[in-house]
Amino acid sequence: MIKTAITDMFGIEYPIICGAMMWLCTPRLCAAISNAGGMGNITAGNYETEEEFRGAIREVRKLTDKPFMVGITILPSVRITSEHHAMYAKVCAEERVAGIEVSGSPLDKALGKKAFESLKKAGIKIFHKVGSVRHAVHAQKAGYDGVYAAGFEEGGHPLGDDVTTMVLTPRIVDSVKIPVVTVGGIADGRSLAAALALGAQGVMMASRFIATSDCDAHENIKQELVRRQENETTLICKSIGLQGRALKNKIICEVLTAEEKGLGLEAIIPLIAGQRIKKAWEKGDVEDAPLMVGQSIGHIHDVISCKELLKRMQDDAVAQLRKASDLIR
Ligand SMILES: Cc1cc2nc3c(=O)[nH]c(=O)nc-3n(C[C@H](O)[C@H](O)[C@H](O)COP(=O)(O)O)c2cc1C
Repeated sequence: MIKTAITDMFGIEYPIICGAMMWLCTPRLCAAISNAGGMGNITAGNYETEEEFRGAIREVRKLTDKPFMVGITILPSVRITSEHHAMYAKVCAEERVAGIEVSGSPLDKALGKKAFESLKKAGIKIFHKVGSVRHAVHAQKAGYDGVYAAGFEEGGHPLGDDVTTMVLTPRIVDSVKIPVVTVGGIADGRSLAAALALGAQGVMMASRFIATSDCDAHENIKQELVRRQENETTLICKSIGLQGRALKNKIICEVLTAEEKGLGLEAIIPLIAGQRIKKAWEKGDVEDAPLMVGQSIGHIHDVISCKELLKRMQDDAVAQLRKASDLIR
């Protein structure tokens, strides 16, 4: 059994947390991960009204009595506004969720210190997902309970500093006293063992959870992730200040061509629109939308349940750490 500051903080079996995933982190997947001994995630941006968002949290509670996180993404968006962010924070405090994953702008700056303090008073652990030492240091100073150190390999929106997980994790571990969780490039027991060896207290992963029988993504996409390798993602949208990492496909070629031509937001937004991505996950169309997965797809070789995945990761990590310690003479 692996015991860390993260397993102790949340009372969970494995130090493995699911990262926010727009359209995919729904109650079913969230509860399956938490029931399997990890930490599930409800991604707030999936819900536009207070009723829907509160309903999703309550649905998870019907499916599990274990803790789970809520992911609140504070990035420029046409659909999700600052009123939504305030509503998410209010509902999280009222529902007393176990933790919040904040990404993009820090919550204390976006909502103000008062809202941040009321979440802390409700006993909610708040983690900021950061891609740099300076942001981790801010999180510690502002009173966050921990940081997710997200390397450039990650899916979603890696910070434009472009620092890899291997370098970022120990840099942040050396720079703050609050627990650090490694994000980016994690998909198996070896990467969990590596993160722990770098000084992290746990890992966060997202792409690996798509290729599980508990995720609602279409089977075509799950099988595509099994087929694709680590060199088959690319960075997009750096030119418009919204860097993302996505699976190479037809629509990504169109986005990159538009960027090369210097076309702005007007040409690019329709190609990366949320509804287009939602439809692709549902219908299984691998070519027609940005699928924001990370380089970790190189380590996805099968579609299994979350329960099997987390048990396998822990067993492999323990075996890997034992093997590594045998090297010591
Ligand atoms: C399909 C997908 C959607 C994502 N959506 C979000 C999001 O809405 N907000 C966010 O902060 N991160 C998002 N991410 C990033 C993840 O939370 C996590 O940081 C990243 O994927 C970790 O890298 P990995 O996928 O290689 O494990 C998304 C990732 C994926 C794969």
